[in-house]
Amino acid sequence: MAQQLSIGILGAGRVGTAVGRQTVRAGHTVKIATDKPAEEIKLLTEVIVPGAQAVNSSELTGSDIIIVAVPLHKYRSIDTAVLQGHVVIDAMNYWSEVDGVIEEFETASSTSEVIAEHFGDVQLVKTLNHIGYGDLEVDSHPAGAPNRRALAVASDHHEAKQLVAVFIDSLGYDAVDAGQLAAGRAFENGTEIFNGRHTAEQMRVLLNECAKVLVTV
Ligand SMILES: NC(=O)c1ccc[n+]([C@@H]2O[C@H](COP(=O)([O-])OP(=O)(O)OC[C@H]3O[C@@H](n4cnc5c(N)ncnc54)[C@H](OP(=O)(O)O)[C@@H]3O)[C@@H](O)[C@H]2O)c1
Repeated sequence: MAQQLSIGILGAGRVGTAVGRQTVRAGHTVKIATDKPAEEIKLLTEVIVPGAQAVNSSELTGSDIIIVAVPLHKYRSIDTAVLQGHVVIDAMNYWSEVDGVIEEFETASSTSEVIAEHFGDVQLVKTLNHIGYGDLEVDSHPAGAPNRRALAVASDHHEAKQLVAVFIDSLGYDAVDAGQLAAGRAFENGTEIFNGRHTAEQMRVLLNECAKVLVTV
């Protein structure tokens, strides 16, 4: 493996545990936390994400990357202190049928811009939101495999985006640079990219088409 990373995951639900398993498989170290004491997710973690360590959220500090996989309507309850100074992946989506109507997400260009502002001093990278938790382990392929699935990566922080691209590659996906964080709206709920299986080449075409639409409206 090229680069072993320490990955923290906030949220031990469908996405957090699926990403956790795939991350352990890729050879990284994984700590997983919720807003509850580590003891309460210890057994679940041992059974569902073998190889990962259940921790209190404060113990995610120092991770190379922290992945936030919490229902978006709960974003204000997230302990943002632990995220400060870190590269953070926003894997969350806004879906009013599930989250309820939340004004700031109705009007935002990209939901991740709201999240970036709320989180504060973090290098936020949007990705992993547009692949179903059930697909993540199934669709993974080694680098160079024909028709390898791609995942888009958007951020205002270049180095953070590069690090996350390395991580995405290690999970078994081509990482495609979607540009700035605001461009992440191109792979939010309701878009063609969201939950679609695309190669890197197809992804670039879709991202370019979306960028043209955004410029002309
Ligand atoms: N489902 C998918 O296929 C998919 C794919 C990509 C992205 N997403 C997005 O990922 C996010 C999570 O989805 P999910 O399906 O994994 O949700 P989920 O199964 O409901 O799991 C949510 C997890 O977050 C924890 N949590 C809740 N509030 C928290 C807080 N303040 N701090 C830390 N942890 C907290 C929950 O703990 P408790 O159970 O103890 O409350 C639970 O472990 C959503 O925004 C969703 O749109 C979903």
